[in-house]
Amino acid sequence: MQSVTDTMHRPLRDLRISLTDRCNFRCTYCMPRELFGAEHLFLPKRELLDFDEIERLARISAGLGVTKLRLTGGEPLLRRDLDVLVARLAAIDGIDDICLTTNGSLLTEKRAHELAAAGIDRVTLSLDAIDDERFKAINDVGFPASKVRTAIDNAVAAGLGPVKVNCVLQRGVNEDQILPMAEAFRHTDVVLRFIEYMDVGTSNGWRMDDVVTARQIVDTIRSRYGLTRLPATAPGETANRWRYDDGAGEIGIIASVSQPFCGGCTRARLSAIGELYTCLFGVHGRDLRTPLRSGATDAELSAMLAGIWSARDDRYSEIRGEETENRRGDADGRVEMSYIGG
Ligand code: GTP
Ligand code: 5AD
Ligand code: SF4
Ligand code: SF4
Repeated sequence: MQSVTDTMHRPLRDLRISLTDRCNFRCTYCMPRELFGAEHLFLPKRELLDFDEIERLARISAGLGVTKLRLTGGEPLLRRDLDVLVARLAAIDGIDDICLTTNGSLLTEKRAHELAAAGIDRVTLSLDAIDDERFKAINDVGFPASKVRTAIDNAVAAGLGPVKVNCVLQRGVNEDQILPMAEAFRHTDVVLRFIEYMDVGTSNGWRMDDVVTARQIVDTIRSRYGLTRLPATAPGETANRWRYDDGAGEIGIIASVSQPFCGGCTRARLSAIGELYTCLFGVHGRDLRTPLRSGATDAELSAMLAGIWSARDDRYSEIRGEETENRRGDADGRVEMSYIGG
């Protein structure tokens, strides 16, 4: 296996693959209805990479050092026969971790077992409130939190763990859910992770004031439970890990706004139509589908990927933190979260 590093000596280790730009939720901070209504044009099916193309790019990436694949969306479970793709990805030499990030709405007991059998190692579910009415207002399609909890149970029962739950916090929207969420997952094997709301894309109208910072999250939990910081398990990890002092388990905090982690960022992102982004905050992806569909060899595609990665100098979150407290001025045109999958 070849290994490729960028201009800041960061190796390529993770490939986050967006399988679709569609989602059956309309979370107000991600796909607000005003912008993703009935008239919104999603990508037609022929534009999407097919399973052969995804597998091929994943295999070529593995040849350059990728060991971890994360399947995202939009909502990745909207992609039919996902387990067939997973089985093909799991068979690639060098890939040792395949994870899925989902809203859970389609994660039935049957689907969870199919995915486990196909070779998914772990599942992360998004849940921004434990209160049904609050969660329905956030996802804006009336989906109750209790059903996501059933999906979490399905993932645990299928052995798709450690199952993680992502909770994006927004001031004035769900910060009062910190303790109820924490309590719902104490004494379980589920790892709850609170996420600082990020200025991804351009449609969510992000303001620094909307962010509930890691410090505020820890203080809120500490008002009731003792917490001790745990060491990182892997370089470039997104979450700071904490454990409850009373043995009730572990939680994580993803502080990409107040404590950016670009220094260890080994993540590349592939859009559903085969554009490679070297940062979540990218404006342009590099088109790999055209060469894929016009007969490029594996060696040519690999050289292309290696070239893109070795020229990489992205560290968006760090720069935003250094420059100003607010969204950077060049936000126009940035790729949307629902398009690139977080
Ligand atoms: P694990 O492998 O389980 O640690 O997953 P993960 O944290 O890498 O991925 P997940 O899809 O659960 O994302 C959690 C949160 O971290 C989401 O809000 C992502 O948008 C955010 N995130 C993931 N990778 C990056 C990154 O490279 N940069 C930034 N700024 N945020 C990221
Ligand atoms: N900031 C932080 N996290 C976000 N997610 C979606 N939009 C944002 C945002 N603006 C989360 C989703 C999902 C993960 C992939 O990213 O809730 O859990
Ligand atoms: Fe919500 Fe995730 Fe769908 Fe965005 S992609 S609308 S965060 S469920
Ligand atoms: Fe990586 Fe860009 Fe996120 Fe920094 S902002 S951690 S470089 S994806």
